[in-house]
Amino acid sequence: CGIVGYIGHREAFPIVIKGLQRLEYRGYDSAGIALYDGNQINLTKTKGKVEDLKNKAKEISQKGSIGIGHTRWATHGVPNDINSHPHYSNSGELVIIHNGIIENYESIKQELTKRGYTFQSDTDTEVLINLIEEVKKTEGVKLGKAVQIALNQVVGAYAIAVFDKEKPDEIVVAKLGSPLAIGIGDEEFFIASDASPFIEFTNNAVYLEDEEMAIIRLGKEIKLRKIKDDAVAYPRILELQMNLEEIEKGGYDHFMLKEIYEQPRAIKDTYRGRLLADQGLIRMAGIDLNMEKFLNANRIIIVACGTSWHAGLVAEYIFEDLARIPVEVEYASEFRYRNPVITDKDVLIAISQSGETADTLAAIKLAKEKGAFVFGVCNVVGSSIARESDAGAYTHAGPEIGVASTKAFTTQITVLTLMALKLAKAKGVFSESRYHEYLCELETIPGKVEKSLESNTLIEIIADVYKDSTNCLYLGRGYNFPVALEGALKLKEISYIHAEGYPAAEMKHGPIALIDEHMPVFVIATKKGHYEKVVSNIQEIKSRKGKIIAIVTEGDEQVKDLADHVIEVPETLESLTPLLTTIPLQLISYHIAVMRGCNVDQPRNLAKSVTVE
Ligand code: G6P
Repeated sequence: CGIVGYIGHREAFPIVIKGLQRLEYRGYDSAGIALYDGNQINLTKTKGKVEDLKNKAKEISQKGSIGIGHTRWATHGVPNDINSHPHYSNSGELVIIHNGIIENYESIKQELTKRGYTFQSDTDTEVLINLIEEVKKTEGVKLGKAVQIALNQVVGAYAIAVFDKEKPDEIVVAKLGSPLAIGIGDEEFFIASDASPFIEFTNNAVYLEDEEMAIIRLGKEIKLRKIKDDAVAYPRILELQMNLEEIEKGGYDHFMLKEIYEQPRAIKDTYRGRLLADQGLIRMAGIDLNMEKFLNANRIIIVACGTSWHAGLVAEYIFEDLARIPVEVEYASEFRYRNPVITDKDVLIAISQSGETADTLAAIKLAKEKGAFVFGVCNVVGSSIARESDAGAYTHAGPEIGVASTKAFTTQITVLTLMALKLAKAKGVFSESRYHEYLCELETIPGKVEKSLESNTLIEIIADVYKDSTNCLYLGRGYNFPVALEGALKLKEISYIHAEGYPAAEMKHGPIALIDEHMPVFVIATKKGHYEKVVSNIQEIKSRKGKIIAIVTEGDEQVKDLADHVIEVPETLESLTPLLTTIPLQLISYHIAVMRGCNVDQPRNLAKSVTVE
């Protein structure tokens, strides 16, 4: 979910609505807004997108310079008008927006019901606002204190903003587990799940830490407190570097397409200042300062979710192949709950675009408790995972807005490659000349990605042929097995076509049974790696009449004779091929989704940043 709030001297409505639109990547089942016009709270909410909310809001007064809004990714209760946020308390005096989950809401709800409270919605959030109201009444305290006492009774995760009609010059916010940023303007404050809603108004922001709350009052400095023990906390004001242009579409039809095309630049930004090929050097402070940890590690454990997990799988090949360090890659959600064996000789690498994914964050905390060294690979600067890690490296891909991850994936692989090369060098696994060859080749990758993007028109034609398929298979081997998984995930996510990724050689142990003339099979068959073996797999598909779309190395003739379509990518070192083979698969998913009339940037049921477990 995404939350936005404003308190100041401007009209709140347009700021909150625009902010919600920027946060829609976090969820878009439903949306709502509450405004205080100096006299009363005007609230409206609806199932659907922020655009629907904008229409519905014509029914209420849009006046007021205090407002809070919410865009939802449903956890408790189906997406409908009633379950949308904001939620009122029973008296109608308090109103709340919430991102997260209150786990013990059932028992609190029972208790409040006994005391006469009634509930309109099925949400945990409505329970929380009534708990705050009950505390406020029974203890006779002000809003801030009531929020604090109530939060000490709940189990779960939250970023909340609460407004009280009786104290119309303040908004109370609190955070545990879900992100919350406060933008500090001139006599005005902005509240949001990330800084994008307020970037055109101010560059100064405070990111709340877990278990912190703030009372934001007009004309006053913000006051931070620890929720548990009421200790005063001091706001750390950060200067933001994001700019407005980066979070707008810049002439592209969709954010996803813009982000696909940004990859040459994004990859360059990732290695800029780090890769110094002419000096034969990779500079990464997070590794340099902790080299011993890596060199003495028994193994590296990589935890991540979704696309980032696929980048982790590519990294497994890279680290083992290049640096000869054993690696395990785990879904963060499984790792954290399976009582894993972790020791202080382990290095855990957490990969996360948003830096907010709840399961990945929890996996880090667990590993830290057991003494492991935690290294974060995040895109969002200052995100929770970045802060929680012992050290890390940012991907510097710039904001990724499209829900289907693209440039985050290739830049994660770039960072992880730099790390592996650095470690390989430090371990003495690599000869000077081999090391040099890698550094120089890495510098050619942005140009080669550019070249791979030139197949876009051909890919559009191929997309048109297969857009009505009901199933697709993606095959790859070695470094390109995770790319096959990622290709299938992209197609599922945005076009709703069922797709499966498989290691090419495993096809004969199952998926081959599915192959007939209706099954398109995307095969990554670049010259490097297990080329001949993959060609045999292609033969097996062909003899069962499957349709073959092959991603091949420029100039390949052998596969061209067998496949229905070939898409070429430039030649590179085997370990760098994922950075190129991924590109056509991103584009194919994009075009198929567009042709099927799907909402590419906001696919159904998904959210970009999953801050609940
Ligand atoms: C969600 C997104 C995916 C993303 C995954 C992990 O499922 O829709 O695109 O790969 O979360 O997100 P993270 O921010 O941790 O990389």
